[in-house]
Amino acid sequence: MVPTLYWDQDAVMILDQRKLPGRTVFIPCRDMKRVISCIKTLAVRGAPAIGVAAAMGLVLAGARIRAKDPAKWRAQFAARAELMRAARPTAVNLGWAVERVLALAAAAPDDVPTIKAMLRRESEIMLAEDIAINKALGRHGAKLVPKKATVLTHCNAGALATCGYGTALGVVRAAVEAGKKVKVIADETRPLLQGARLTAWEMVAEGIPVAVAPDGAAGALMDKGLVDLCLVGADRIAANGDTANKIGTFNLALQARRHGVPFYVAAPLSTVDLDTPSGDLIPIEERDPGEVLAFAGRRSAAAGAQAINFAFDVTPNDLVSAIITEAGVLRPPYNRSLAQAKAKRSLKVA
Ligand code: MRU
Repeated sequence: MVPTLYWDQDAVMILDQRKLPGRTVFIPCRDMKRVISCIKTLAVRGAPAIGVAAAMGLVLAGARIRAKDPAKWRAQFAARAELMRAARPTAVNLGWAVERVLALAAAAPDDVPTIKAMLRRESEIMLAEDIAINKALGRHGAKLVPKKATVLTHCNAGALATCGYGTALGVVRAAVEAGKKVKVIADETRPLLQGARLTAWEMVAEGIPVAVAPDGAAGALMDKGLVDLCLVGADRIAANGDTANKIGTFNLALQARRHGVPFYVAAPLSTVDLDTPSGDLIPIEERDPGEVLAFAGRRSAAAGAQAINFAFDVTPNDLVSAIITEAGVLRPPYNRSLAQAKAKRSLKVA
Protein backbone atom coordinates (compact mmCIF):
# COMPACT_ATOMS: atom_id res chain seq x y z
CA MET A 1 0.00 0.00 0.00
CA VAL A 2 1.10 3.56 -0.68
CA PRO A 3 1.77 5.29 2.68
CA THR A 4 -0.71 7.94 3.84
CA LEU A 5 2.01 10.11 5.32
CA TYR A 6 5.65 9.83 6.34
CA TRP A 7 8.72 11.79 7.33
CA ASP A 8 11.25 12.54 4.59
CA GLN A 9 14.07 14.13 6.57
CA ASP A 10 12.53 17.43 7.72
CA ALA A 11 9.42 17.34 5.56
CA VAL A 12 6.09 15.69 6.27
CA MET A 13 5.06 13.97 3.05
CA ILE A 14 1.28 13.76 2.71
CA LEU A 15 -0.44 11.64 0.07
CA ASP A 16 -2.91 13.95 -1.68
CA GLN A 17 -6.10 11.88 -1.40
CA ARG A 18 -8.06 14.44 -3.43
CA LYS A 19 -6.21 13.19 -6.49
CA LEU A 20 -6.98 9.49 -5.94
CA PRO A 21 -7.68 7.18 -7.63
CA GLY A 22 -6.24 8.93 -10.69
CA ARG A 23 -2.87 10.10 -9.47
CA THR A 24 -0.50 9.29 -6.61
CA VAL A 25 0.99 12.62 -5.58
CA PHE A 26 2.70 13.53 -2.31
CA ILE A 27 2.64 17.05 -0.87
CA PRO A 28 5.86 17.99 0.93
CA CYS A 29 4.97 20.03 4.03
CA ARG A 30 7.76 22.03 5.64
CA ASP A 31 5.59 24.16 7.91
CA MET A 32 2.54 23.64 10.04
CA LYS A 33 0.37 25.91 7.89
CA ARG A 34 0.71 23.52 4.97
CA VAL A 35 -0.25 20.55 7.14
CA ILE A 36 -3.32 22.42 8.43
CA SER A 37 -4.29 23.23 4.87
CA CYS A 38 -3.93 19.53 3.92
CA ILE A 39 -6.21 18.58 6.83
CA LYS A 40 -8.84 21.22 6.04
CA THR A 41 -8.99 20.41 2.33
CA LEU A 42 -9.01 16.62 2.92
CA ALA A 43 -5.69 15.97 1.19
CA VAL A 44 -5.22 13.92 4.37
CA ARG A 45 -8.43 12.70 6.00
CA GLY A 46 -9.83 10.02 8.26
CA ALA A 47 -9.74 10.45 12.03
CA PRO A 48 -6.55 8.49 12.92
CA ALA A 49 -4.61 9.91 9.94
CA ILE A 50 -5.41 13.51 10.81
CA GLY A 51 -4.39 12.86 14.42
CA VAL A 52 -0.92 11.73 13.37
CA ALA A 53 -0.70 14.49 10.72
CA ALA A 54 -1.44 16.99 13.49
CA ALA A 55 1.38 15.60 15.64
CA MET A 56 3.78 15.80 12.69
CA GLY A 57 2.62 19.32 11.86
CA LEU A 58 3.31 20.38 15.43
CA VAL A 59 6.84 19.03 15.14
CA LEU A 60 7.30 21.39 12.18
CA ALA A 61 5.78 24.26 14.18
CA GLY A 62 8.04 23.56 17.15
CA ALA A 63 11.15 23.45 14.98
CA ARG A 64 10.42 26.97 13.70
CA ILE A 65 10.01 28.61 17.09
CA ARG A 66 13.19 30.62 17.72
CA ALA A 67 12.82 31.15 21.50
CA LYS A 68 15.67 29.52 23.44
CA ASP A 69 14.01 29.90 26.80
CA PRO A 70 11.92 26.75 27.39
CA ALA A 71 9.04 28.64 29.06
CA LYS A 72 8.78 31.08 26.15
CA TRP A 73 9.14 28.24 23.64
CA ARG A 74 6.36 26.28 25.36
CA ALA A 75 4.02 29.31 25.39
CA GLN A 76 4.47 29.87 21.66
CA PHE A 77 4.13 26.17 20.98
CA ALA A 78 0.85 26.03 22.93
CA ALA A 79 -0.56 28.87 20.78
CA ARG A 80 0.32 26.97 17.60
CA ALA A 81 -1.25 23.82 19.02
CA GLU A 82 -4.58 25.64 19.31
CA LEU A 83 -4.46 26.52 15.61
CA MET A 84 -3.89 22.87 14.80
CA ARG A 85 -6.69 21.72 17.13
CA ALA A 86 -9.15 23.95 15.25
CA ALA A 87 -8.38 22.47 11.80
CA ARG A 88 -11.39 20.09 11.85
CA PRO A 89 -13.92 19.80 14.68
CA THR A 90 -15.49 16.33 14.64
CA ALA A 91 -12.65 13.77 14.66
CA VAL A 92 -11.52 13.67 18.27
CA ASN A 93 -8.21 12.06 17.27
CA LEU A 94 -7.02 15.52 16.26
CA GLY A 95 -7.53 16.96 19.77
CA TRP A 96 -6.24 13.71 21.28
CA ALA A 97 -2.99 13.99 19.30
CA VAL A 98 -2.57 17.69 20.16
CA GLU A 99 -3.03 16.88 23.88
CA ARG A 100 -0.53 14.03 23.69
CA VAL A 101 2.11 16.24 22.07
CA LEU A 102 1.48 19.13 24.52
CA ALA A 103 1.76 16.75 27.48
CA LEU A 104 5.08 15.47 26.18
CA ALA A 105 6.41 19.00 25.66
CA ALA A 106 5.34 19.90 29.22
CA ALA A 107 6.98 16.84 30.76
CA ALA A 108 10.22 17.03 28.74
CA PRO A 109 13.44 18.39 30.28
CA ASP A 110 13.86 22.19 30.23
CA ASP A 111 16.00 22.23 27.10
CA VAL A 112 14.53 23.34 23.77
CA PRO A 113 16.61 21.10 21.45
CA THR A 114 15.74 18.10 23.65
CA ILE A 115 12.02 18.97 23.54
CA LYS A 116 12.15 19.27 19.76
CA ALA A 117 13.91 15.91 19.40
CA MET A 118 11.42 14.25 21.76
CA LEU A 119 8.46 15.62 19.78
CA ARG A 120 9.85 14.27 16.53
CA ARG A 121 10.36 10.85 18.11
CA GLU A 122 6.84 10.92 19.56
CA SER A 123 5.31 11.59 16.14
CA GLU A 124 7.19 8.56 14.78
CA ILE A 125 5.95 6.43 17.68
CA MET A 126 2.35 7.58 17.08
CA LEU A 127 2.59 6.60 13.42
CA ALA A 128 3.93 3.13 14.19
CA GLU A 129 1.45 2.66 17.05
CA ASP A 130 -1.48 3.49 14.79
CA ILE A 131 -0.63 0.65 12.43
CA ALA A 132 -0.10 -1.80 15.31
CA ILE A 133 -3.45 -0.78 16.86
CA ASN A 134 -5.26 -1.28 13.55
CA LYS A 135 -3.76 -4.75 13.18
CA ALA A 136 -4.87 -5.64 16.71
CA LEU A 137 -8.41 -4.39 16.18
CA GLY A 138 -8.48 -6.10 12.81
CA ARG A 139 -7.69 -9.43 14.47
CA HIS A 140 -10.45 -8.96 17.06
CA GLY A 141 -12.96 -7.86 14.44
CA ALA A 142 -12.15 -10.66 12.00
CA LYS A 143 -13.74 -13.14 14.44
CA LEU A 144 -17.11 -11.46 13.77
CA VAL A 145 -16.85 -12.01 10.01
CA PRO A 146 -18.38 -15.27 8.72
CA LYS A 147 -16.18 -17.59 6.59
CA LYS A 148 -17.91 -16.27 3.46
CA ALA A 149 -19.25 -12.77 3.82
CA THR A 150 -20.24 -9.58 2.06
CA VAL A 151 -19.38 -6.47 4.06
CA LEU A 152 -21.08 -3.15 3.41
CA THR A 153 -18.94 -0.16 4.38
CA HIS A 154 -19.33 3.59 4.20
CA CYS A 155 -16.75 6.29 3.44
CA ASN A 156 -13.15 5.15 3.74
CA ALA A 157 -11.94 3.69 7.02
CA GLY A 158 -8.96 1.99 5.45
CA ALA A 159 -5.21 2.35 5.23
CA LEU A 160 -5.72 5.80 3.71
CA ALA A 161 -7.74 7.02 6.70
CA THR A 162 -5.04 5.85 9.09
CA CYS A 163 -1.28 5.38 8.96
CA GLY A 164 -1.82 1.96 7.41
CA TYR A 165 -4.02 -1.17 7.44
CA GLY A 166 -7.19 0.69 8.44
CA THR A 167 -9.96 0.21 10.98
CA ALA A 168 -13.12 -1.09 9.25
CA LEU A 169 -11.03 -2.18 6.26
CA GLY A 170 -8.42 -3.46 8.73
CA VAL A 171 -11.08 -5.93 9.89
CA VAL A 172 -11.69 -6.90 6.24
CA ARG A 173 -7.94 -7.32 5.67
CA ALA A 174 -7.54 -9.44 8.82
CA ALA A 175 -10.50 -11.63 7.82
CA VAL A 176 -8.98 -12.19 4.37
CA GLU A 177 -5.59 -12.94 5.96
CA ALA A 178 -7.38 -15.50 8.16
CA GLY A 179 -8.53 -17.28 4.99
CA LYS A 180 -12.10 -15.96 4.86
CA LYS A 181 -13.76 -15.14 1.56
CA VAL A 182 -14.81 -11.53 1.87
CA LYS A 183 -16.48 -9.27 -0.65
CA VAL A 184 -16.87 -5.57 -0.02
CA ILE A 185 -19.68 -3.26 -1.06
CA ALA A 186 -18.43 0.33 -0.85
CA ASP A 187 -21.08 3.02 -0.49
CA GLU A 188 -19.95 5.68 -2.95
CA THR A 189 -20.23 8.26 -0.11
CA ARG A 190 -21.52 11.49 -1.54
CA PRO A 191 -20.50 14.26 -1.77
CA LEU A 192 -16.76 13.58 -1.86
CA LEU A 193 -16.88 9.92 -2.89
CA GLN A 194 -14.45 8.52 -0.36
CA GLY A 195 -16.06 5.10 -0.89
CA ALA A 196 -15.96 5.08 -4.70
CA ARG A 197 -12.54 6.73 -4.97
CA LEU A 198 -10.62 5.49 -1.93
CA THR A 199 -12.17 2.33 -0.48
CA ALA A 200 -12.59 0.82 -3.95
CA TRP A 201 -9.00 1.80 -4.84
CA GLU A 202 -7.61 0.14 -1.70
CA MET A 203 -9.60 -3.05 -2.17
CA VAL A 204 -8.73 -3.37 -5.86
CA ALA A 205 -5.04 -2.89 -4.97
CA GLU A 206 -5.29 -5.78 -2.47
CA GLY A 207 -7.23 -8.04 -4.81
CA ILE A 208 -10.28 -8.02 -2.51
CA PRO A 209 -13.50 -8.06 -4.58
CA VAL A 210 -15.30 -4.74 -4.31
CA ALA A 211 -18.46 -3.27 -5.80
CA VAL A 212 -19.43 0.39 -5.49
CA ALA A 213 -23.09 1.14 -4.74
CA PRO A 214 -24.98 4.42 -4.55
CA ASP A 215 -25.49 5.47 -0.91
CA GLY A 216 -29.26 5.18 -1.25
CA ALA A 217 -29.07 1.52 -2.29
CA ALA A 218 -28.21 0.14 1.15
CA GLY A 219 -31.79 -0.77 2.13
CA ALA A 220 -32.51 -2.50 -1.17
CA LEU A 221 -29.24 -4.46 -1.01
CA MET A 222 -30.03 -5.68 2.49
CA ASP A 223 -33.59 -6.50 1.44
CA LYS A 224 -32.19 -8.73 -1.32
CA GLY A 225 -30.02 -10.51 1.26
CA LEU A 226 -26.81 -9.24 -0.31
CA VAL A 227 -25.23 -7.90 2.90
CA ASP A 228 -24.02 -10.04 5.81
CA LEU A 229 -22.67 -7.25 8.00
CA CYS A 230 -21.98 -3.52 8.03
CA LEU A 231 -18.56 -2.32 9.14
CA VAL A 232 -17.79 1.39 9.49
CA GLY A 233 -15.18 3.59 11.14
CA ALA A 234 -15.75 6.50 13.51
CA ASP A 235 -14.66 10.08 13.98
CA ARG A 236 -15.75 10.29 17.58
CA ILE A 237 -17.46 7.84 19.90
CA ALA A 238 -19.19 9.45 22.87
CA ALA A 239 -19.00 7.86 26.34
CA ASN A 240 -22.40 6.17 25.78
CA GLY A 241 -21.37 4.67 22.42
CA ASP A 242 -23.17 7.18 20.17
CA THR A 243 -20.94 7.31 17.10
CA ALA A 244 -20.13 10.19 14.76
CA ASN A 245 -19.03 9.07 11.31
CA LYS A 246 -19.39 10.20 7.69
CA ILE A 247 -22.81 11.53 6.76
CA GLY A 248 -25.03 8.64 5.74
CA THR A 249 -23.75 6.23 8.39
CA PHE A 250 -26.89 6.72 10.51
CA ASN A 251 -29.11 5.78 7.52
CA LEU A 252 -27.04 2.65 7.04
CA ALA A 253 -27.43 1.69 10.71
CA LEU A 254 -31.22 2.16 10.52
CA GLN A 255 -31.41 -0.06 7.45
CA ALA A 256 -29.23 -2.64 9.16
CA ARG A 257 -31.56 -2.75 12.17
CA ARG A 258 -34.63 -3.02 9.92
CA HIS A 259 -33.10 -5.98 8.09
CA GLY A 260 -31.46 -7.75 11.05
CA VAL A 261 -27.95 -7.15 9.70
CA PRO A 262 -25.21 -6.63 12.34
CA PHE A 263 -23.81 -3.10 12.37
CA TYR A 264 -20.25 -2.83 13.70
CA VAL A 265 -18.10 0.23 14.37
CA ALA A 266 -14.31 -0.30 14.24
CA ALA A 267 -12.12 2.36 15.85
CA PRO A 268 -9.05 2.79 18.04
CA LEU A 269 -9.62 3.83 21.66
CA SER A 270 -8.19 7.26 20.76
CA THR A 271 -11.51 7.84 18.93
CA VAL A 272 -13.46 7.24 22.15
CA ASP A 273 -14.17 10.53 23.90
CA LEU A 274 -15.27 9.89 27.48
CA ASP A 275 -15.51 13.66 28.05
CA THR A 276 -18.45 13.82 25.66
CA PRO A 277 -21.32 11.99 27.39
CA SER A 278 -23.56 11.55 24.35
CA GLY A 279 -23.73 12.08 20.61
CA ASP A 280 -25.83 15.26 20.69
CA LEU A 281 -22.78 17.01 22.19
CA ILE A 282 -20.40 16.01 19.38
CA PRO A 283 -19.52 19.03 17.20
CA ILE A 284 -20.50 18.30 13.60
CA GLU A 285 -18.44 19.87 10.85
CA GLU A 286 -20.34 21.76 8.15
CA ARG A 287 -18.43 22.04 4.91
CA ASP A 288 -18.57 24.22 1.83
CA PRO A 289 -21.98 23.98 0.10
CA GLY A 290 -20.08 23.78 -3.19
CA GLU A 291 -19.16 20.16 -2.36
CA VAL A 292 -22.85 19.22 -2.64
CA LEU A 293 -23.89 21.55 -5.43
CA ALA A 294 -21.23 20.35 -7.84
CA PHE A 295 -20.10 16.99 -9.16
CA ALA A 296 -16.58 16.37 -10.51
CA GLY A 297 -15.87 20.09 -10.42
CA ARG A 298 -19.01 21.14 -12.38
CA ARG A 299 -22.17 22.61 -10.96
CA SER A 300 -24.81 19.88 -10.94
CA ALA A 301 -27.55 21.49 -8.83
CA ALA A 302 -30.01 23.97 -10.30
CA ALA A 303 -28.78 27.54 -10.18
CA GLY A 304 -30.20 29.30 -7.14
CA ALA A 305 -30.46 26.13 -5.02
CA GLN A 306 -28.70 26.10 -1.66
CA ALA A 307 -27.05 23.11 0.02
CA ILE A 308 -26.96 21.44 3.41
CA ASN A 309 -23.55 19.92 3.96
CA PHE A 310 -23.04 18.29 7.34
CA ALA A 311 -19.92 16.15 6.92
CA PHE A 312 -20.89 13.71 9.68
CA ASP A 313 -23.91 12.27 11.45
CA VAL A 314 -24.39 10.49 14.75
CA THR A 315 -25.57 6.90 14.99
CA PRO A 316 -27.31 6.28 18.33
CA ASN A 317 -25.68 3.56 20.44
CA ASP A 318 -28.73 1.26 20.34
CA LEU A 319 -28.13 0.70 16.61
CA VAL A 320 -24.49 -0.36 17.15
CA SER A 321 -24.12 -4.14 17.56
CA ALA A 322 -20.53 -3.88 18.83
CA ILE A 323 -17.54 -1.54 18.85
CA ILE A 324 -14.33 -3.19 17.68
CA THR A 325 -11.20 -1.73 19.31
CA GLU A 326 -7.61 -2.79 19.93
CA ALA A 327 -8.76 -3.85 23.41
CA GLY A 328 -11.28 -6.28 21.94
CA VAL A 329 -14.91 -6.34 20.83
CA LEU A 330 -16.93 -4.11 23.15
CA ARG A 331 -20.64 -4.71 23.69
CA PRO A 332 -23.46 -2.69 25.26
CA PRO A 333 -23.87 -1.12 27.73
CA TYR A 334 -21.15 1.04 26.16
CA ASN A 335 -20.91 3.47 29.07
CA ARG A 336 -19.37 0.59 31.00
CA SER A 337 -17.43 -1.28 28.31
CA LEU A 338 -15.84 1.85 26.82
CA ALA A 339 -14.84 3.27 30.21
CA GLN A 340 -13.33 -0.07 31.24
CA ALA A 341 -11.36 -0.41 28.00
CA LYS A 342 -10.03 3.16 28.24
CA ALA A 343 -9.07 2.70 31.91
CA LYS A 344 -7.12 -0.47 31.13
CA ARG A 345 -5.37 1.25 28.20
CA SER A 346 -4.26 4.23 30.30
CA LEU A 347 -2.89 1.85 32.96
CA LYS A 348 -0.83 0.17 30.22
CA VAL A 349 0.49 3.52 28.93
CA ALA A 350 1.32 4.90 32.40
O1 MRU B 1 -14.32 13.60 5.98
P1 MRU B 1 -13.43 12.39 6.13
O2 MRU B 1 -13.09 11.75 4.84
O3 MRU B 1 -12.22 12.71 6.99
O4 MRU B 1 -14.33 11.37 6.95
C1 MRU B 1 -13.74 10.16 7.34
C2 MRU B 1 -14.68 9.22 8.00
O5 MRU B 1 -15.82 9.52 8.24
C3 MRU B 1 -14.10 7.90 8.44
O6 MRU B 1 -15.07 6.90 8.40
C4 MRU B 1 -13.59 8.02 9.89
O7 MRU B 1 -12.72 9.10 10.02
C5 MRU B 1 -12.90 6.78 10.34
S1 MRU B 1 -11.38 6.53 9.54
C6 MRU B 1 -10.62 5.17 10.17
